Amino acid sequence: MKVTTMLSSYSFLLFILLISANPYARALQEGGNGIEEELEDVKRSDFPTGFLFGVATSSYQIEGAILEDGKSLSNWDVFVHKNGNVNNGDTGDIATDHYHRYLEDIETIHSLGVDAYRFSISWSRILPNGKLGGVNAAGIMFYNSIIDNLLLRGIQPFVTIHHWDIPQVLSDEYGGWLNPLIQDDFVHFAETCFKNFGDRVRYWVTINEPNSVADLAYERGKHPPGHCSPPFGNCSAGNSDTEPLIAMHNMLLAHAKASKLYREQFQPKQGGVIGIVVQAIMYEPFADDEHDKEAVKRALANNVAWAFDPLVFGDYPPEMCRYHRNELPKFTPEERLLIRDSIDFLGLNHYATLYAKDCIHSSCARSDSACAPGGDRAIGGFVCTTAERGGVLIGEPTGLPTFSVVPRGMEEIVDSVKNRYHNKPMFITENGYSSPPQQEQVDDFQLDVKRIAFHKAYLAFLARAMRNGADVRGYFVWTLMDNFEWSLGYDVKLGLYSVDRATLNRIPRSSAKWYRNFLGNISSNSMQPRTAVAFWSKVGRAEE
Ligand code: FCB
Repeated sequence: MKVTTMLSSYSFLLFILLISANPYARALQEGGNGIEEELEDVKRSDFPTGFLFGVATSSYQIEGAILEDGKSLSNWDVFVHKNGNVNNGDTGDIATDHYHRYLEDIETIHSLGVDAYRFSISWSRILPNGKLGGVNAAGIMFYNSIIDNLLLRGIQPFVTIHHWDIPQVLSDEYGGWLNPLIQDDFVHFAETCFKNFGDRVRYWVTINEPNSVADLAYERGKHPPGHCSPPFGNCSAGNSDTEPLIAMHNMLLAHAKASKLYREQFQPKQGGVIGIVVQAIMYEPFADDEHDKEAVKRALANNVAWAFDPLVFGDYPPEMCRYHRNELPKFTPEERLLIRDSIDFLGLNHYATLYAKDCIHSSCARSDSACAPGGDRAIGGFVCTTAERGGVLIGEPTGLPTFSVVPRGMEEIVDSVKNRYHNKPMFITENGYSSPPQQEQVDDFQLDVKRIAFHKAYLAFLARAMRNGADVRGYFVWTLMDNFEWSLGYDVKLGLYSVDRATLNRIPRSSAKWYRNFLGNISSNSMQPRTAVAFWSKVGRAEE
């Protein structure tokens, strides 16, 4: 046997050994009921036919080409160039240079064997003035080429219209999401997308994680426009108690208007579906008592239901209405009709599970450093959220602060959303593992055993939720390749592919090989009856 062959068989054996190790055994045992075996076994065929497996990215995090071919500056382009806003002064000016390498990237995506690719459109690339008029033909061509090249390879484009990068001009002119004027500008942006791309796009997400935008941009000041007030931080402008609520209100109305337009003018001919994506954190009671169980409900209302309740039921969650006073904006009766039932599916980005501790009946002193700041206020739902209890983390830490590995959280969040929204179709639009920085420097950088174990474990719990009836239609790995992780810059890595920052070459990690192998198992003997149900029948839209 040649040495090279011996070596490659050896590394293959090592790879197999490593990926069958289970670093999350404890977390899984806590999940109970034989899940340990399922973990080792989770297969594509455990998911129904038509279930979309994919990878996800977003424009600012990968494209680069900051001012090329007519693109104008976005809020992120400007924010990252201000001192101290991003780790190491990193920027997305070049990012992963996807703008120039997208064909190579599409080949890579294709090589994984995915069904779908979730990406977002840079608003300032197709509408440099942010509003009416001035469509940038080069920007349209770029996304048309992405869509066509995906479809040529049998990959469904799953398009997020807005993933956090708004044209800076809209921020300068009227304060971005704080001003209701942005609603109509967003609708125009969405309409431009429906008109130019909708003949080929079946899956639309209006806005990525409006709850994170409210939290990170207007409560904690970590994202543009960097607004906050104490105790959340010391920003030069902002009001953390009110601005997140106003920004969310405008995002929800912007979504609802765009969705109405899509449903009236595009959906009948184009036959796609439209939804929104939220950051879906799961919560567990800090102590096993009634107060902390109530705190879990408030935390969920303050996170997931803040966006989903209005879009499904027509108003903010009753839990929020109970503890907010006049600062919670009100929907007019006409607006309630507009927002109610304005989504075909619920998109969940699930990364984390936290403990929730009641701050109504017990004091959540600000000095308790384990609690996120502001838990003792209405904007925090009078809940202290923390990853730590008695000095012990809820799960193994990751590279994202407070995000620990808690695979059972996937089943819990899916069940909770299933129950609250009468099992409306869901997608897991993001789920991914960020290795802690120090670990990246050692052997887990390319041979990312923990990332593989993470996905296997989360998928096993997802499969179980689905076996128990949850109507989940797809799962997207965040993310295709290491990219600009917002205020954390390039230090935090979540890619199936690493990106050499000097050459920008993409290098497959073991997790990319694992995903390819997992997706290759398409033959099945365990299909379930519900697999016959076409996606569209439940949402009542055109048949595929
Ligand atoms: C999500 C964002 C995504 C990425 C992951 C790690 O909240 O939607 O852009 O940053 O977190």
